[in-house]
Order: sequence, then C-alpha cells, then structure tokens
Amino acid sequence: MGRLNGKVAVLTGACGGIGQAILRKLISEGGKVLAVDLSEQGLAAVKSKQGDAVDTLAVDVTDYDQVAGMMSRAAERFGQLDIVINNAGIGSPKALLEHDPVADFEGVTAVNQKGVYYGILAGARQFKRQGSGGVILNTSSVYGHMASELSFTYNVSKAAVDMMTKCAALELGAAGIRVCAVAPGRVDTPLLRKYEELGLWEHIRKEQMRQTFTQPEEIANVVAFLVSEEANCINGCTVYASDGFENFKFPLQGS
Ligand SMILES: NC(=O)c1ccc[n+]([C@@H]2O[C@H](COP(=O)([O-])OP(=O)(O)OC[C@H]3O[C@@H](n4cnc5c(N)ncnc54)[C@H](O)[C@@H]3O)[C@@H](O)[C@H]2O)c1
Repeated sequence: MGRLNGKVAVLTGACGGIGQAILRKLISEGGKVLAVDLSEQGLAAVKSKQGDAVDTLAVDVTDYDQVAGMMSRAAERFGQLDIVINNAGIGSPKALLEHDPVADFEGVTAVNQKGVYYGILAGARQFKRQGSGGVILNTSSVYGHMASELSFTYNVSKAAVDMMTKCAALELGAAGIRVCAVAPGRVDTPLLRKYEELGLWEHIRKEQMRQTFTQPEEIANVVAFLVSEEANCINGCTVYASDGFENFKFPLQGS
C-alpha cells in the first residue's frame, strides 16, 4: 500500500527534470496522475514509459481555460481530483541591466506566477465542484527567499509563489483545502544546466555545502510526503528542500 493509494493528482511541468521524478514517485506510491506539460513530444515519451495510472495532456499553464480544463479532465478520467502540483517553471539567467523590459519580465512571470495562480484557482474550484477538500502543492525555490544575481524576475516570481501559498491556505482552509510549497535549492535538471552554458557550472557546484547538486528524486520524495496525509499539519508554508543552501554564506572555495 502506497501513501497515495487511490489519490488522483494533476502535475504540471511533468516532462522536466523534477516533474518526471515526481511523476514516478507519485505512481510508485499508488497515485494516478494527469501529467501536463507544454511539450507534446515530452508527454508522448512520458506516456510510453507509464501504464494506465498516467494520462497526459498538453497544457500551457499561462492560459486559464487550459488550466481549468486539465482539472476537469483529471476528474473525468480518474473519477475525482485530490492533489494539484503546480510545478511548471522557467528561468532565464540574465543581468538586470541587460533586460528587455517586456520579454525578460513577462515571460517568466506568466509561467511561474500567473501559472501557479491559475493552478490554485482552478484546482480549488474543481475541489468545490466535487464537494471535497484537496491538497495544492506549489514549486517555489530558495530564490523566493534569497536575492541572487542574474535571476531578478525568477526570484520575484518565486517570492510571489510563497505568498500565494500563504494567502491561498488562509482563504481555502475552511473548504478543507491544504496548500503548501516546496523550495528546492539547486537540482541537476535542464533548468539548472543553463548555468553550464554561462560557464558557471563548476562555480555553482562549489557553492553547494556538500559540493554536489540535489537530485530530482530527492525533491520528489519531499513532494510525495507533502501531498500525503502524513503531512496533514503542514499548511500555508514553504518547505525548504535545499541542502541548507539558503541558511549559510557560500564557502570560501566557491568564491
Ligand atoms: N532545477 C533547479 O535547480 C530548481 C531549483 C529551484 C526550483 N526549481 C523549480 O522546479 C520546477 C521544475 O523545474 P525543473 O528544474 O524540473 O525544470 P525543467 O526545465 O527541467 O522542467 C520544466 C518543465 O516545465 C514545462 N513548462 C514550461 N513552461 C510551461 C508552460 N507554459 N506550461 C506548461 N508547462 C511548461 C517545460 O516544458 C518543462 O518540461 C520549476 O518551477 C523550477 O522553477 C528548480
């Protein structure tokens, strides 16, 4: 018996590094998952690796109608919706003074902030239609809490995720909906590999306390716990899964 036996989840960003690991973990815990992503090719690959416990749908999380559609699709396909995981996110490292004020603000904000807002809203409306409670888990980042270079809009968007998590938990608690967030530090996925293109890979690796990056499976373990009933008393907060990254000054050898 898994911790998520009989539970139905929607997972966005399901084709990414962290998303694929979460998907595998939810299935291994007995859950059923509507795996959602922009990438139709990625979804076809995901579907071919999974059995009947997974359905897939191409969705752009910046479009409310598509996000609402994914909630009802999960409920129709699997009978109900219990868990929404707003995990899709993008980053585009760039110095602030080099920003294009439209492209470098609106692109990241649309996915990371608006997409999570839409997921909270449409997920809660689906739970209300069902007459049930539910769990909403948002993927934040240590950079929702810490300032850092090259990542202005991303950090702002993740700070918004942290605040949306608190506000949603407060407003939705009476409806039996629990809302929390996970904040990864540096996880070895295509998103982080953008720092390799900038020639900063070794530099950021040495900034890690244990000189190594977190693996996507480690984040998936924390997510599976947070959406399970074992985490019932964790609500309205962001849980750091970061190897302590946000708590310490970078070691000297990283400078
Ligand atoms: N990798 C890290 O070090 C790290 C650290 C902290 C937080 N995070 C967060 O974890 C989450 C997952 O990141 P990842 O590292 O797996 O990244 P990733 O780039 O591997 O995956 C992101 C996925 O989101 C999908 N996506 C992008 N825009 C979308 C849209 N508009 N609609 C639907 N899907 C869309 C992409 O197609 C991709 O499959 C993100 O929210 C990210 O900000 C990652």
